[in-house]
Amino acid sequence: MTAPVKVLFVCLGNICRSPSAEGVFRQVVQQAGLDDRITIDSCGTGNWHVGKGPDSRAIAAARKRGIDIAPLRARQFDSEDLDRFDHVLVMDRQNLADVRDVWRQNGGTEPVLFLQFGSSGYEEVPDPYYGGEHGFEHVLDLINEASEGLLQHIREQLA
Ligand code: 4NP
Repeated sequence: MTAPVKVLFVCLGNICRSPSAEGVFRQVVQQAGLDDRITIDSCGTGNWHVGKGPDSRAIAAARKRGIDIAPLRARQFDSEDLDRFDHVLVMDRQNLADVRDVWRQNGGTEPVLFLQFGSSGYEEVPDPYYGGEHGFEHVLDLINEASEGLLQHIREQLA
């Protein structure tokens, strides 16, 4: 059996977008029966929320779709993540710039915008932190669509 493919989602705070992506992608992977082939984690470029659980609005929105992200705890991105993970998916251009700065120094896996695996026309997952409830539904829709594309991409690698 080959080693699992390791996937990391990165946003700013690791309390809204990337834990949502971790939960949604885990569900997509489980439904495909590939949980033993793909490992999934998330982190944030910032350190404000380290050790905290996801935003209550993100937990509620995910729960409505049968996904429990409440047990997740925020951690900060580390340069070693670029050595440990095979795919580093960032949520917006600022995350991309921040992680690319580290990648230029460190090497390893090059970060890419997560939504490049979707076809919604959006390039960035908008930060819902200062928005209303609706923002979190939109985030989940974008993440869900890109998750299907990412899984397809990884399936081709696994084949
Ligand atoms: P996230 O959202 O990057 O999707 O987790 C944010 C959460 C917190 C903050 C910013 C974005 N903040 O500034 O505290």
